[in-house]
Formats: sequence, C-alpha cells, structure tokens
Amino acid sequence: MTFDELRLSQAEYAKALADKLARKMSHSLAAAKGADFIPYTVREGKWVPAGPVGRSSISWWTNGFWPGEMWEMYRLTKDEAYKEEAERAEKMLDEALYNIDALHHDVGFMWLISSGVNFRMTDNDQSRKRALLAANILAGRFNPLGFIRAWNGNRTGWAIIDTMMNLNLLYWASDFTGDPRFRKIAMIHADTAMKYFEREDCSCNHIVIFDPETMAFVNNPAGQGYASGSSWSRGQSWALYGFTLSWIHTGKKEYLDTARRVAKYFVSQIQDDWIPRIDFCQPADVDLKDSCAGAIAACGLIELARQVGGEEAEFFFNAGVNMLKAMDENASDWSDGYPAILTKCSSAYHNGDHHIAMVYADFFFIEAVRKLLGDEFLFW
Ligand code: GLY
Repeated sequence: MTFDELRLSQAEYAKALADKLARKMSHSLAAAKGADFIPYTVREGKWVPAGPVGRSSISWWTNGFWPGEMWEMYRLTKDEAYKEEAERAEKMLDEALYNIDALHHDVGFMWLISSGVNFRMTDNDQSRKRALLAANILAGRFNPLGFIRAWNGNRTGWAIIDTMMNLNLLYWASDFTGDPRFRKIAMIHADTAMKYFEREDCSCNHIVIFDPETMAFVNNPAGQGYASGSSWSRGQSWALYGFTLSWIHTGKKEYLDTARRVAKYFVSQIQDDWIPRIDFCQPADVDLKDSCAGAIAACGLIELARQVGGEEAEFFFNAGVNMLKAMDENASDWSDGYPAILTKCSSAYHNGDHHIAMVYADFFFIEAVRKLLGDEFLFW
C-alpha cells in the first residue's frame, strides 16, 4: 500500500480522534486561560508548571510545547482561541530568551514549535526574530570538534540524544537565511550521534560524555534511563523521530537508514500492550511505562512510513497506529475535568515522576493525529 492508502485506511479513526481532541482541548485551554505560568503537568486536577509550585522557571525546557500544542490544535480546528493562547505563551517565553545563563540546547524545543511555527504560519516578524535568535544560541553551543553541548555548568563535554530534535531549528535557520552554517553544524552533530550514540543492537545511548578538548570518549552514564548501557525508551524515540527529520531536511541517506534501524529496534521492544516501558532494559517485574516515548515514536513511525515504501512502510505505519490506539484506549483521560490527555508518562526512571501527565506527550499525540489526518505541515 502507498502511504496515502495506509493513511486512508485509518481515516475514520483519525476523524473520531480529531473530534475527541477538539472537545477535550477546549476544556484544557479553558483550564490554562490567564495562568501566569506555562502548563507542564496536572496536580489535583489542575495544570501546574514544572517544578515545585511557585518556583518554576520560565527557562524550563518543555515550555515551548504548550504554545506548540496550541498551534497543533489551531491547524486541526482553525479556532482562533488556540492561536491567541499560542501567542500569549510565546510572549511569556521572551523572559527566557534573554536569560542566557539559564539556556541550554533545548532552545529548539522552546522556540521552533512556538515562534518558528508562528512565523511560518502567520509571517509574524517578531516570531521570526525570536526563532533566529534561538538558532544562533544553539549554534553557539557547538564544539567544533563535532558536537553540540547539551547542558551548562561543568558539563562541557556532554552530548545527549535528545539534541537530534533540536537540530531542526538549525535546518530551518539555514533554509530561511540561505546561510549554510546552521545546517553544517546540525549535520556534524548528527554524524557524531550516528557514530557514538547508536549501539550494535541499534539502540541508542542517552548521554555521551566527550573530552571537550580532544573529543575522546569518556563515558555514557544512565541519564534518565535505568543504567549505563540500558535503553531509555524516550531517548530511542528522540533518535527515531530526530534521524527521520534530519533525513527529510538534508536528504542524507545514512540518517534515513539510522532512523529505520532504530525504529525496528524500538518496535521489537514493545510488549503486547503497545505502551513503551520507561527503559527497555528495566527489570522484568517493574511495570513502569512512558506514553510520552510512545507518542514521539508514533510521530516518527508515521513520518518514516511516508518516507519508505512497501512492506516496510506498512510495518512502521501499523506500529505507530497501534501505539496511538493503545494510548487512546488505555493511557489517557478524555474527561472534561482533567486538563491533560495522556496519563502514563514518566519523566525519568530514577528520581522522576511516574505515570503522570506531561505537556510534551500531549503535543506529540496531537501531532501524530494530525499526520494521520493528512496535514503535511511539518512543525520541525
Ligand atoms: N529531553 C528530556 C526528556 O525527554 O525528558
């Protein structure tokens, strides 16, 4: 089947999900209206920001996802209320854009799907400037030995797989300005990720620490996964979707092949319930899940199906849809009184919140539905 035939085979389901989203998200938006913070998760039935209430930081890496989610809903419904909320949240992020001390590689997550999408959809000049400034900040984190530095403090040689998604801000900046520097930096980083992050079994490290003076490999700590050398499922999904997008933006075939391998590995690790465990190497008697990894992977798998043909496309597409259905039926709250959608998200294996709502999981869930509906506008 072609991608369009695959997509049309799920048209009725996609339409039903879009209707459910429109109803649910109108309540979700009402619950956030006028808040002086950007939603991250839900406590006692209410949106709350990341971190202890009252101490959250506007620089928190997930803060682009709420405006991004509003743009996703705007594309689905054309309801101006989502656009207004997206623009309100985007303005709140300005405080973070000028606080360089607190910024990190996740400026891609923060400004590509907020300001970048706003500019591309509405020609908003202020949004263009925000996205370009963010791209320059990300490019400024490049170590010319071959990687983008993820975090601050003394972690000068730390690179993480999540950065694969932030590279899309750099691809956009080169496409928009005609200056290849941003794309070159992104591709050097993606090449490093292929070399040092992907492992023999096609799983990926979360973190690789390099000597920042020589780029000698130092270590690969557990990060948000179970242990060093284990397989944090959200990291795998960042790689799956991230390499797919790098292929789309550059046409470099090795990125597509890497995405294919990681995707096959990811699907091979899914159990009968189609909801990823937090870590594919966690102990067998631990039943901790992360729907967020599932939502990101579903986006990557559906997009990958569009890129490849034949049986492979069918395999990726069906796996993505199976994951969406599992989340829809068994790991979500569609009631009016609870503002988020997905409920079985986990921020990390150790010392993290488990089986909670997370704004970025909902963002990717909606994005996957939009792909099923045939909207090809790529936020990334
Ligand atoms: N980028 C951090 C996370 O996925 O939790």
